[in-house]
Amino acid sequence: MADLRDGAGGAAQDGGFARSLGPWSLTALGVGAIIGAGIFVLTGAAAARYAGPAVVLSFALAGCACAVVALCYAELAALIPVSGSTYSYVYAALGEIFAWIIGWDLVLEYAMGAATVAVGWSGYLVSLLASLGLHLPPQFTAPPGAHTAVAGVTGLFNVPAAGVVAVITGLLVIGTRESARVNNIMVGFKLAVVLVVIVVGGLHVAPAHWTPFMPANSGEFGHFGWSGVLRGAAVVFFAYIGFDAVSTAAQEAHEPQRSVPIGLVASLAICTALYIGVAAVLTGVVPYPKLDRPDPISAAIDVIGLPWLAVTVKFAALAGLTTVILVLLFGQARIMYAMASDGLLPAFFSRVNPRFRTPAASQILLGLLVAAVAGLFPIDLLGEMVSIGTLAAFALVCVAVMYLRHSHPETPRPFRVPGSPAIPTLGVLACLGLMAGLPWETWARLLVWLVLGMAIYFFYGHRHAQSRQGVKH
Ligand code: ALA
Repeated sequence: MADLRDGAGGAAQDGGFARSLGPWSLTALGVGAIIGAGIFVLTGAAAARYAGPAVVLSFALAGCACAVVALCYAELAALIPVSGSTYSYVYAALGEIFAWIIGWDLVLEYAMGAATVAVGWSGYLVSLLASLGLHLPPQFTAPPGAHTAVAGVTGLFNVPAAGVVAVITGLLVIGTRESARVNNIMVGFKLAVVLVVIVVGGLHVAPAHWTPFMPANSGEFGHFGWSGVLRGAAVVFFAYIGFDAVSTAAQEAHEPQRSVPIGLVASLAICTALYIGVAAVLTGVVPYPKLDRPDPISAAIDVIGLPWLAVTVKFAALAGLTTVILVLLFGQARIMYAMASDGLLPAFFSRVNPRFRTPAASQILLGLLVAAVAGLFPIDLLGEMVSIGTLAAFALVCVAVMYLRHSHPETPRPFRVPGSPAIPTLGVLACLGLMAGLPWETWARLLVWLVLGMAIYFFYGHRHAQSRQGVKH
């Protein structure tokens, strides 16, 4: 029987990492990658457009789905403790073509995810500068054609969103990496501010704003009522993306078989509790129709009336969003490195710059593309694409668990999903259920994306991977 670690793709086996991360650092890494635009930005639109105060249920629903997926991740991370994320697991479990599909799909999670968070970053920057009396030209803070805060002025290009991607790309190129210490400090700051919002906001809740808790459906699927809760869950699912980043650090983890499952589940549990708290406070302080803005937490703070808190929250949001963009861009470059090392992408993506010792050229190309996307598209469109792509990847992770139980039943599993196959099956259904909550246009875009990916695979990836294997053997 083949060793699963041998089948995880070539790049997944690069060793030599220091095993310095324990359960606490891994949990901090997860929380650092999770808390970002989802809670700071998308909660507002999800409440105002789809679920009303019942957005709290949307968060609970999405959190439960992620919990099941996290258990599946934990089993794979303990079974195949290599870096490279889902791509490597699926390569080991289901082979090259599925690995390509997942790798291509992960571009939606990581690269598009970074673009989405960058647009959220831009919203908070504009808001922070405005509270300091500085106003950027509105046409350069919104995507082409979008309405801006100034009547009659439509957007041309979101310069701050593209700019932050460019700056972070620069940092990644020259090799600046978050150390676990810096990450822990950032996470501490983010957590502290989120807790302050919950506690201080909690004192200003007007329970009348929670009535009706679930506004009646407007007659259209996804707009309030239970279908609105479902669509809200699909949208705020974005807020949970990032817990899988814990699995990418498996090779840097001390006792990964134990610490990675703990890190995955603990970071998710902490974030779920915080998200439900923030969502309840936001909808309790501000009438939900007023939350549809790029900085919904500021709306609540305006009501609370503490100017120092408003500025602190905006700084925390900017710092928090910066970390998420950094982790996502870093992760995307690493996945492309793994795919290029396996021959599925051109060797350009696995070239390491001898001076900086980073995949500099690939990181710059990636940065340019992500900056362009961040400048040109609105946050809701991007966020929905990220959600649908990630949900598809998560469903495949659950399938991989069930497949490996069947194909490698004897391999020791330091962590086992309880109640398999029922729980992984539930995971697949939960992911498909959330995907069903997304608009058909998003499905159509996913389909186009996957067809494009298959075309690239058959014309490039498959041939090159085969010829590489021919060379190797
Ligand atoms: N979960 C991350 C965020 O909300 C991607 O920004």
